[in-house]
Amino acid sequence: MSRVTSKLSRQDEVTIQTMSPKSWPRKITRRNFLEGTIQTSAAFLVGDLFSGVEQSLNAAIEKKGLSQFTRTKPLRSVVEDDRDISTVKAVQHIRRMRGGAQAHLFRCSDGHFYVVKFRNNPQHLKVLANEMLVALLANLAGLPVPRVAIVDVAGCLIGNTPELKMELSTHSVACVSGLQFGSQYVVTPWDGQVLDYLPSDMLARVRNIKSFAGILALDKWTSNTDGRQAAFWRWMREKKYTATFIDQGYCFNGGEWTFPDYALRGVFPDNEVYDHVCNWESFEPWLSRIEHMSEDKIWLAAGSVPPDWYLSDWHSLEKLVETLLQRQTLVRDLITAFRTSIRQPFPKWTLTS
Ligand SMILES: Nc1ncnc2c1ncn2[C@@H]1O[C@H](COP(=O)(O)OP(=O)(O)OP(=O)(O)O)[C@@H](O)[C@H]1O
Ligand SMILES: [Mg+2]
Repeated sequence: MSRVTSKLSRQDEVTIQTMSPKSWPRKITRRNFLEGTIQTSAAFLVGDLFSGVEQSLNAAIEKKGLSQFTRTKPLRSVVEDDRDISTVKAVQHIRRMRGGAQAHLFRCSDGHFYVVKFRNNPQHLKVLANEMLVALLANLAGLPVPRVAIVDVAGCLIGNTPELKMELSTHSVACVSGLQFGSQYVVTPWDGQVLDYLPSDMLARVRNIKSFAGILALDKWTSNTDGRQAAFWRWMREKKYTATFIDQGYCFNGGEWTFPDYALRGVFPDNEVYDHVCNWESFEPWLSRIEHMSEDKIWLAAGSVPPDWYLSDWHSLEKLVETLLQRQTLVRDLITAFRTSIRQPFPKWTLTS
């Protein structure tokens, strides 16, 4: 029996819960499904709320009487339990998102909003597996990533929503139905504001700016071949932003599941986010958590990824996890390669460190 299958059979209960489509919707109860349905009229109006950052959300909420609907509790910024992967149903399509994977925003049966990447996205099927696995690893390291979920998108919703298409170079195809990857929208739209970019002079307003050093360690470990991306969000009436790390699709080199180590990849484009970095202590507690993450937890996280998202290629998954385990001791060297690169990202690095 291969390492993965033996590891997976050790966690039968977990793998059955997370891998069998019949048991996936274990968290969808009739009650929460009905609650989701009851909120449909509110969500129906939300599409307008999303249509422009400039629009005054408060005014829209007043105008449309949305305040009478239950506001969701403040989001947890990270998955609190690495096994806590819900399956939710997509209830309503909100809008298409920017980006190469052509993700879409949905309101789902748990009342939350999710950015959904489809299995037939133009990047690669394994982007879904990467998103899920790296979010779980980031969570184990204590890094701020959105909650992740498996989102079940019904064929009838796709059939009735002309926008749910993948635009390819010569033609378009309908999004596939079934189980997709969902990243919970970092803040409920009427509770706050989300920005993809913050100008350098506003980065001082990011309360968890130091965690950029931690995500750098994770990106180096998982060989993220894309630039590091964050969603910067704030509650209404608050000035400070929080960074939540999104888009882990190109960790493990996207669909390749290889680990090319480029000093200048997997890093944030702006040096300012590393301004506080002056020695190895600046990477704590995240770096040590990555270096000492238990083998069992890493296997468990890998076993939580729906096999459909990597065509049940156990052998490749096993190789991926084995490589991750070997690379736990390499992370400092990979950070050093970035530190000593022409970009000179850490000018305050002390010689004694
Ligand atoms: N959890 C989230 N909360 C808020 N916004 C999000 C979230 N996830 C994604 N987004 C938004 O959706 C966009 C697309 O997501 P993402 O970057 O993951 O997709 P992508 O298609 O892989 O992008 P790229 O072209 O950069 O590879 C992001 O730029 C961001 O604006
Ligand atoms: Mg992106």
